[in-house]
Amino acid sequence: MSNVAHGALDILVVGGGAREHALAWAVRRSPRCSQLYVAPGNDATPGTRVDIAADNIEALTAFAIDHAIGLVIVGPEIALAAGLADELALGGIPVFGPTRAAAELEWSKSFTRRIAAELNLASPAWATFDSHADIDAALGWWRALGDKIVVKQAGLAGGKGVVVPLDDVSCEATIRSFFTTGAVVLEQRLRGPECSLLAFCDGTTARPLPFAQDHKRLSEGDTGPNTGGMGAYAPAPVPYDVDALTAQFIQPVVDHMRSIGRPFVGMLYAGLMLTADGPKLLEFNCRFGDPEAQVLIPLISNDFVELIVSCCDGTLAETPIVMRNATAIGVVIAARNYPSSGVPLGVAGVPPAANDRQLLFRGSPAGREYTAVGIAPTLHEARAAAYELAAAVAPAHARYRRDIGWRAHGAMLSSYAAAGVDIDEGTRAVDQLKTSVEKTHTSSVLGGIGAFGGTFDLTEIMGMQQPVLVASTDGVGTKVELAARAGRYDVPGQDIVNHCINDVLVQGARPLFFLDYFASSSIRAEQVAAVVNGMSIACAASGCVLLGGETAEMPGVYMPGAFDVAGTLVGVVERARLLPLSTITPGDVLLGLGSSGPHTNGYSLLRKLFDWLPLDARPEPLDCTIGEALLVPHRSYLNALWGALGDHGLIKGLAHITGGGLLDNVPRILPSNCDASITLGSWPMPALFQLVTEVATGLPIDELYRTLNMGIGMVIVVDAERVAELQAAIADPTWIIGSIVEGTKRVQLT
Ligand code: GLY
Repeated sequence: MSNVAHGALDILVVGGGAREHALAWAVRRSPRCSQLYVAPGNDATPGTRVDIAADNIEALTAFAIDHAIGLVIVGPEIALAAGLADELALGGIPVFGPTRAAAELEWSKSFTRRIAAELNLASPAWATFDSHADIDAALGWWRALGDKIVVKQAGLAGGKGVVVPLDDVSCEATIRSFFTTGAVVLEQRLRGPECSLLAFCDGTTARPLPFAQDHKRLSEGDTGPNTGGMGAYAPAPVPYDVDALTAQFIQPVVDHMRSIGRPFVGMLYAGLMLTADGPKLLEFNCRFGDPEAQVLIPLISNDFVELIVSCCDGTLAETPIVMRNATAIGVVIAARNYPSSGVPLGVAGVPPAANDRQLLFRGSPAGREYTAVGIAPTLHEARAAAYELAAAVAPAHARYRRDIGWRAHGAMLSSYAAAGVDIDEGTRAVDQLKTSVEKTHTSSVLGGIGAFGGTFDLTEIMGMQQPVLVASTDGVGTKVELAARAGRYDVPGQDIVNHCINDVLVQGARPLFFLDYFASSSIRAEQVAAVVNGMSIACAASGCVLLGGETAEMPGVYMPGAFDVAGTLVGVVERARLLPLSTITPGDVLLGLGSSGPHTNGYSLLRKLFDWLPLDARPEPLDCTIGEALLVPHRSYLNALWGALGDHGLIKGLAHITGGGLLDNVPRILPSNCDASITLGSWPMPALFQLVTEVATGLPIDELYRTLNMGIGMVIVVDAERVAELQAAIADPTWIIGSIVEGTKRVQLT
């Protein structure tokens, strides 16, 4: 420990990778930095570059003394293991980074394992073997363990000294090959996510940063060989308290190192694995992680130099660490064949202009060349910012993982509800809709809500001669978007039931029961209840049972706030009364029944036409708002027509004007030798359709009549002789809109 001078300092950052770029970036921002030097730095690091390698201890010390450096911050372990901190201390220069003796925590894995055992730090089973002569003992230890292991070189290996063998053959081969480099540590292979716990240390006190997580494997899904780290994010959603794990894994080591005369000053980094049996120590590092530094340092709110100085001065206990309320994700952009010795990437794309949510740190040529960091209030936003930057700067042949942070996404989910599916809300929805559903039930309904299938007793149709079931399935279409926007959830409920009723009615059938399907991005009980209430109103008005349904919560499939409504209706008709009759012939008359609005068709066009109009606007000639006009429920024609249908033959055919309008729906009931001749202007055009005609000036008339019902929702074919009789049998207004003529099953608009 050494006292750092007050006031502004000349500072030297040692190292040349992206981690040191992040350190230099943070130092440069501090008012306590006067002159910044980086040795050797790289072409993007701020400060004056000094051409001395990080492990050239003598030259670095001489430079620091010659230039009266007030503080040295050491990035790479190699410099610490070589004793840079010791030499600088001898020269009276304050240094952030442990002495060689304290750094043994990193440069000797056997030392670490012994300390961990002494301090009872939860660890995997392990054994160290000093020399080639111990190969048989090592193989024997592994076989006796009877589990998968991790093979580690005991000394520093620049991130390449850890192998996780996939099978027994490669395990034995790795053990044998590692003995050629010196001592070997074998550890039981643990399972679970890893996390990086980094703490500033002043020899006595340890103050942690938030948990970070590093993706060490080369390839997506955390597969492939170990690397120095392909990306990191912080704070990582780790289900442990950072102070508790610091007390468990870091502080005892800091205390111990002081007690054995090797006080630890610098960054102590515990690599932990979060196993089912709790966190276990994988390793210690005695410096910032790379790429953890690139995501942790930008999140620190403190004056970075002040914080470092408090470690060197032994005053860390009085210096709380303040973090930004943000998340950072760093994506490492590596050379094409990294981690093999690679070909440099060459010139990167131009990074976006400096902004406060993206940072690009330059790393080592031909290795991990850049770290693109995104910083934002949420992990999702940070990820988007990081990848936007990575895409902007990475040359086409660069290698970077597209999944950095993927484990965090899963770790943040604490329940199915957190995935966007709220089972409790679904249950509440069922409770709320129960009453309105049961209102439609008759004695034909067996069983209640919640059964796997609806059961309907057909005794009531036993008296029929030849009952034919008529079934129809449909959806409301994009009208649901308007309904969601206007909060008119009952409308699509009525729409779907009436739509299906009309579809079976045109075949002469009356409805028996209806089954609904409701899907949304997120279930809200009140919303579902309102939709189902709309269905229940329509069912009750037509003597139809609401027999069952399905409510689906589908976040990520439906846009937030969006929902969809569909359903199936089953009706019944005497076979002899099925419509249309085969007697439709030229000379028959077409009667039209008014629609209540666009019903459920043409809404993709309508929403575009009125896109810029607020729903509460009242353009002429409407006598209501545009929202109200567009959201009138689909009309049911059952009650209007049922009486007339009782007089068999009076109605020869019915066409429900749905998608395809008059032009496509009327031909569905025509014999092959007939056309329908429809006279435009023969019915009063509702105000909404007048407005549509005024606005959609570019749309050909045929297109309009093929998209919208234009005021006619049901067309009836009647014998010319019986028009008056039929009109008298229908209480609602009807208009003669045309006739059947000879032709080929088409509509002629005249
Ligand atoms: N990211 C791992 C390390 O720095 O050792």
